[in-house]
Amino acid sequence: MSLSVNHLLGIRNLKRQDIELIFQTADTFKGVLQRPIKKVPTLRDTTIVNLFFENSTRTRISFELAEKRLGADVVNFSASGSSVSKGETLIDTVNNILSMKVDMVVMRHSASGAPHFLSKHIQVPIVNAGDGINEHPTQALLDAFSIRERLGSVAGKKVAICGDIMHSRVALSNIYCLKELGAEVTVVGPPTLIPKHMAEALGVNVSYNIREALEWCDVANVLRIQLERQNTPLFSSLREYSLAYGVNKALLDSLKKEIVIMHPGPINRGVELSSDAADSSHSIILNQVENGVAIRMAVLYLLAGKKPELAV
Ligand code: NCD
Repeated sequence: MSLSVNHLLGIRNLKRQDIELIFQTADTFKGVLQRPIKKVPTLRDTTIVNLFFENSTRTRISFELAEKRLGADVVNFSASGSSVSKGETLIDTVNNILSMKVDMVVMRHSASGAPHFLSKHIQVPIVNAGDGINEHPTQALLDAFSIRERLGSVAGKKVAICGDIMHSRVALSNIYCLKELGAEVTVVGPPTLIPKHMAEALGVNVSYNIREALEWCDVANVLRIQLERQNTPLFSSLREYSLAYGVNKALLDSLKKEIVIMHPGPINRGVELSSDAADSSHSIILNQVENGVAIRMAVLYLLAGKKPELAV
């Protein structure tokens, strides 16, 4: 079995079989990660460069751990402190790195479409680690994998994605992934943070009422307000946002059922999610982080050795 794609640019390009293959492979790697020696030599002699043009904590550490646990050689690059600040183009930066014989590229960039653009210029597998407001495919895979782990399956489950849907690449990738796996999705947040025509375009339900969405769902994936991507204010204040849309333990306790709480991190505690909810038994936030390593090991393993043609 192999993936139908040569890069992981987005979930939009994946088929259900691809996602299932990634999950089965991640199951095996999760087993490896429970062992005293958490390392396999699968990607020995493979060199992977992590190109981070935008800040990251979890995703970057998670990719680096995944690469090292597969035995790959790892090179890390961050835009700050590099020649990008001297005016070098993305293609020049990448071609210079590739001429040092790099076999795979993991890239995060604040411009939507940056990894897609790169795939027109380089012939090694590219993994998108988050591009602007577009996609964050490995996050969606680890989110769906964590739902499958907690609830047994994703098909038929009701998932509410809460908050800044408009600027969240996590939201878009999650929608593609969950829909492909047969879940029902509701996006919930202030009208100014939910793109128009979302329901028709992506086949999701839209709600502006957090309580109603939580009453409906099995799982709530709560997102951070992406203030760094908003040029003009889209709501009155964080305090008011929190009062209207914040998820807290009192709200969870008042529901007629138990729901699962997820968050991709970083959490703005007390804004979209209170500490008593984030740290409660409802939360699988740290399981998501743990599963991220196995999912990224699976993606890297399944893409290694692919020889992509230049995209047109
Ligand atoms: C997310 C991201 O960078 O898109 N974080 C992550 O990768 N875990 C979400 C966010 O920044 O809010």
